Amino acid sequence: MKKAWNKVPAAGAFCILAGFVLVSFDTVFAQNQATPPCCVDRWDPEWTERSMWAPGAMGPGQLQRMARHWTFIHGGLPFEYRGLWSTLEQTPDVVKAGARLYQQQCSECHGTQGMGDGDAARALTPSPALLAYLIQMPMSVDEYLMWSIAEGGEELKTDMPAFKDKLSREDIWKIIAFMRAGFPEMAAE
Ligand code: HEC
Repeated sequence: MKKAWNKVPAAGAFCILAGFVLVSFDTVFAQNQATPPCCVDRWDPEWTERSMWAPGAMGPGQLQRMARHWTFIHGGLPFEYRGLWSTLEQTPDVVKAGARLYQQQCSECHGTQGMGDGDAARALTPSPALLAYLIQMPMSVDEYLMWSIAEGGEELKTDMPAFKDKLSREDIWKIIAFMRAGFPEMAAE
């Protein structure tokens, strides 16, 4: 009888240990069951998720291009460009003046029709933007275009020159009016 009493602490310890093992096993098991089959989205499983900015997802030039759009969409415009609107009406005279400026300052890279195919374009990475398409995108609001043209690509390390010291704001609005008019050829002379 004395011997049996001696075994009580050992049996107690065993029970506690066994209980602990069971509880932890259950926890692990429960975790594995955390997503019941009912809730798996079979059309969008986890393995299709891919970070847009992950290495290899975009070429280096494309990354820089996206960085410009990303900056704007996430409210990264410098204060002085926020909320800017053109001060000019899109009259034929304004468009014509814009055409002249565009052909002088922009077409060697962006091409006469804004198709990114100017003579200097091929040597550049990233290549000059296809402004004819850009101008149709909802993102092409006045403040975005003014910022891109005035500040250029220095911060993004692209070859887009900054025009803020070269052209007046009014001249830049003229160029924007020309682009909004659809790069009309008649105005180019
Ligand atoms: C030396 C070549 C060069 C000249 C000249 C140039 N650009 Fe660019 N431009 C680029 C390149 C390269 C990019 C693409 C990289 C970037 O967005 O910075 C670009 C990008 C842009 C963008 C942003 C496009 C986007 O995807 O949002 C605008 C707007 C633009 N240029 C307008 C102009 C205008 C207007 C002129 C003339 C006043 C001009 N550029 C002159 C090379 C040039």
